[in-house]
Amino acid sequence: MNLSEFFHSSFVNRHSSINGMDKPASLYQSSVGQKVLVALTGLFLCTFLVVHLSGNLLLFKQDGGRAFDGYSEFMSTNLGIRFMEFVLAAGFLGHILLGIRVWMYNRRCRPESYVMSRPSQNSSLAARVMFVTGSVVFVFLVVHLKTFFVPSRFAGNIKPSMYRLVSTAFADPVYAGFYLVSLALMGYHLRHGFQSAFQTLGLRPHRRTLIDYVAMIFWLFIPAGFAAMPVYFLWAAHWARAR
Ligand code: HEM
Repeated sequence: MNLSEFFHSSFVNRHSSINGMDKPASLYQSSVGQKVLVALTGLFLCTFLVVHLSGNLLLFKQDGGRAFDGYSEFMSTNLGIRFMEFVLAAGFLGHILLGIRVWMYNRRCRPESYVMSRPSQNSSLAARVMFVTGSVVFVFLVVHLKTFFVPSRFAGNIKPSMYRLVSTAFADPVYAGFYLVSLALMGYHLRHGFQSAFQTLGLRPHRRTLIDYVAMIFWLFIPAGFAAMPVYFLWAAHWARAR
């Protein structure tokens, strides 16, 4: 199946027929199954954000970047971490491709008339712009990997100081501004995504549950923690120039 067939083929709902006999559709084939997979990959990516933020907090250690560079060296040489990078890439790819497919399916199923479907009454703004916010996060990720991940992993023997790379990149107001806008939209994406994932998995039976407070850690505090990094280095560069 090519990419176009992947996005345009219909879902099989609950059952498919072989030789006239009904058989249950696989998790991958049914619309509900695909939503479950989007939810599970999304939650997996949330766990990555916790780990990534924890390591990056070393940037705030006032030691000229020694601890962060040591951590970065470990990340780029440890075999277990290198293996996990493939799992992570598969998680991102699966989440993006299946997310687009579910989004296209929902669009096809929506009543034609905008007035009839009343989007503003039936769903929140965060839910309706998931495709847009997700696309921004994707662009952010491509720029981010090109700036940090590629030099970290493919620089050969002259690997640069990651601390210096991060602090120099964030001293640029345009680059730092791009991060802040992207992180705000990532938070908005996670705001609906996290709650929706638990709803899909049947773990959020009511509108206001404990999950919504846990969600706040992911859509508010984690993006804010990441945002503190460009803000900090932009501020540090400003004071270094002013002195
Ligand atoms: C704004 C603060 C951030 C900083 C300072 C930062 C820094 C870095 C650095 C230095 C690397 C290179 C690899 C390494 O040394 O381990 C990296 C890799 C990566 N970053 Fe970020 N990052 C930030 C935010 C994010 C966010 C919000 C995401 C997710 C949307 C993200 C996703 C990734 C991924 C997928 C990798 C490659 C896998 C890995 O090495 O763990 N980063 N980041």
